Order: sequence, then structure tokens, then C-alpha cells
Amino acid sequence: MATWARMAAAGWIVGFGAGVVAASPQIAQVNSTGDEYRVFCGACHGPEGRGDGPAAKSLRKRPADLTQLAKRNLGTYPADRVFKVIDGRVPVNGHGGPDMPAWGPIFSQSRESQTPEDVKARIDALVRYVEALQEKP
Ligand code: HEC
Repeated sequence: MATWARMAAAGWIVGFGAGVVAASPQIAQVNSTGDEYRVFCGACHGPEGRGDGPAAKSLRKRPADLTQLAKRNLGTYPADRVFKVIDGRVPVNGHGGPDMPAWGPIFSQSRESQTPEDVKARIDALVRYVEALQEKP
């Protein structure tokens, strides 16, 4: 009994760590873009993108409120920039620091995205998912 409880607790911690740091056991289990968002982004940016995920409090820098991207860009969703921020390999002003992981290299190590095209498709899907979170002006 006690052993089970300990194992369950350890599993939870490992699982949570994987979501935040993308250590990766969870990568194999996600099967929709909503899942991908929850696993890879939600811990910091929150379930609805408001920058209030469970890990947000322990970060030095507050995760961006992803619902305001269009509003802050004169009403146009900056899809290109969002792609680059997620990919992380292209430096974007003020981003790509240690507080926001770069997913391009992580996705390219993952079994679900073997080719650069797969990685791009995966990031594109996340870009569209974040677009749908935009608060209407
Ligand atoms: C470990 C926490 C963490 C995770 C996980 C994370 N982010 Fe972030 N993100 C941040 C922080 C912190 C910032 C703010 C960086 C800054 O202001 O320099 C940020 C910034 C951003 C921005 C830039 C917003 C702007 O103002 O232009 C976008 C877009 C973004 N994240 C999308 C995502 C997406 C999509 C995912 C999942 C694939 C994700 N993030 C995962 C912490 C995280």
C-alpha cells in the first residue's frame, strides 16, 4: 500500500517534469494538438493561454499571456513570430532565453516527427492552436 502510494507520487512527479522540461515519456502519448498544447505549453502558459499555468509561479519570468498576441500586434495574429518563438532555433527579440524552452530541437528528437517537415507540421499545428486562443478585440 505505502509502496504503491510512493510509486504513484514518483510517477506524478516524473510525468509533470516531462511536461515542463520535455524529458519525453509523454511525447509518445499525445495524439491531438490540444494534448500537445497541454503537455508542452500549458504548464507555463495555462490551459487557456493566460500565462497562469501551475509552473508559472516558480519561473523568474512570467509566461506570456498568449490570448493577447493579436491584440498587441494591432489586431493581426503574428503567426510567423509565434512559429519562431516555439521553434526556438531562430532568435526572436526578447525570447529564446532560458525561461522558454525551444521545441524545434526537442520535436526533432521525437519519434512522432522524424523529418524536418514533420517538425514543421507539428509547430504549425501549435501556431494554429494558439491562434484560436486569441481574445477577440
Ligand atoms: C517552462 C515554461 C514555458 C513553457 C513550457 C512554454 N513557454 Fe512560452 N514562454 C514562457 C515564458 C517565460 C515566456 C516569456 C518570455 C519573454 O518574455 O522573454 C514565453 C513566451 C512565449 C511566447 C511569446 C509571446 C510574445 O509576447 O510574443 C509564445 C508565442 C509562447 N511562449 C508560446 C509557447 C508555446 C506554444 C509553448 C508550447 C509549445 C510554450 N510557449 C511553452 C515560458 C514557457
